[in-house]
Amino acid sequence: MQLDSLSWFPGHMTKTRRMIESELSNVDAVCEIVDARIPMSSRNPDVDTLTALKPRIVVLNRVDQADSAMTKRWAAWFRKQGFAVIEADAKSGGGVKQFAPAVRELLKEKIAAYEAKGQIGRVLRVMVLGIPNVGKSTFINRVSGRKSAKAEDRPGVTRSKQWVPVDKTLELLDTPGILWPKFEDPEVGVRLAFTGAIRDEVVDIEELAMRLMSFLGEHYPKALEERYKLEVISCDDGWTLIEKAGRKRGFLISGGEVDTERMSRILLDEFRGGKLGRFTLEMPEDSPGED
Ligand code: G4P
Repeated sequence: MQLDSLSWFPGHMTKTRRMIESELSNVDAVCEIVDARIPMSSRNPDVDTLTALKPRIVVLNRVDQADSAMTKRWAAWFRKQGFAVIEADAKSGGGVKQFAPAVRELLKEKIAAYEAKGQIGRVLRVMVLGIPNVGKSTFINRVSGRKSAKAEDRPGVTRSKQWVPVDKTLELLDTPGILWPKFEDPEVGVRLAFTGAIRDEVVDIEELAMRLMSFLGEHYPKALEERYKLEVISCDDGWTLIEKAGRKRGFLISGGEVDTERMSRILLDEFRGGKLGRFTLEMPEDSPGED
């Protein structure tokens, strides 16, 4: 699969890394927003190392699109790694109210230390990080009531650092610069492409859909059976399932062959649009650090 060369350009990440390093001393905690459907692939592992010494909170966002049983397991996994965790659907606002109390709980010793020094009601500052498309802007807007339009996430578009107040004693640092995902494992790129975080123009649609079908056939066969009125048998590979679904939909080209490209686009659209159901595409047990 060919991935966007821009996405690979390490210079952007270097800039972002420097910015994170220089701002860390100005914040009390770091908040990472991740996509609950791909909680590992939607993180940049460099951030883990960079921010390891700060109290950290993870927002499992897009829970409305993820498998809720898996979200519970991911929340437990992050807690085990020492993170505070909240589950959110920033689009509808679900779960965002838990954020401020969760930050205060995470920082309760720090708050007590500030108070012991006479700094009652001192403003807590939290750096918010997330790769594109996890819902970072939507989350910040929801939690703060900010109305401003989303700043552009494009290389070359300069964004300035923004402090966004949540309430009288909590401020977010909306980080400029783009936090890229890390594509060392090719599966990471594939999962990001499934969710639409990587633009379709740069990937092979049929290959992508075939891999998605294969995953869904193995892990969520009932969802495919219901949506496409087909029967999944254990020996069906992704390609066979695309053909079965395309045939059921009547997507045929000359000679009675299935228009697999059309079916591939439909599958990806329906998957991303939530028409197939709620899915989590990676499991905590496959993550590094899991014993
Ligand atoms: P980013 O800053 O991390 O790049 O992401 P952003 O907030 O711009 O969100 C990207 C898209 O994801 C937006 O949709 C947004 O509405 C949607 N989104 C964010 N959080 C959630 C969530 O928790 N659940 C769901 N289902 N969607 C979420 P869009 O199609 O680009 O815009 P719009 O049509 O919603 O305005």
